[in-house]
Amino acid sequence: MRFLLRTIPIMAIISTVALALAVTSQAAAKSSAAQHFSSTCSMCHGPDGKGYPAIHTPNFTSPKWQASVTNAQITQVITDGVKGTAMQGFGSRLKPAQIHELVLYIRSLNSAKKK
Ligand code: HEC
Repeated sequence: MRFLLRTIPIMAIISTVALALAVTSQAAAKSSAAQHFSSTCSMCHGPDGKGYPAIHTPNFTSPKWQASVTNAQITQVITDGVKGTAMQGFGSRLKPAQIHELVLYIRSLNSAKKK
């Protein structure tokens, strides 16, 4: 009996932790582009992609900016960077599929396309 009383709370803790881990990894898989953006791009482009005027990063949420670039241009900039600026190329660090996801993610930031 004493053994059981001690075991039950431990089992409860273990299953709570397991559940929390399962939920977290599911969320991570769903938004891997958002994760990439926040870990690799947000220091210069802002956590919400709005950019920082002081370092000349554009506002990805601006419909005007969105209309000014094609997907091919965004892909090219992420892959090769922009010479002479802080924007380096990520072609050697990210797979083409990951870059494609980032392009779609940047498109999804357009404030004109409210969900
Ligand atoms: C060290 C800072 C820095 C990091 C990190 C960075 N960028 Fe940039 N990025 C810039 C700057 C500065 C510019 C503006 C370059 C210019 O003047 O044309 C830029 C431009 C861009 C543009 C083109 C904007 C346009 O108007 O043509 C895209 C798209 C872009 N970045 C996406 C990304 C993505 C995606 C990541 C992460 C994988 C990333 N950047 C990481 C600094 C950064």
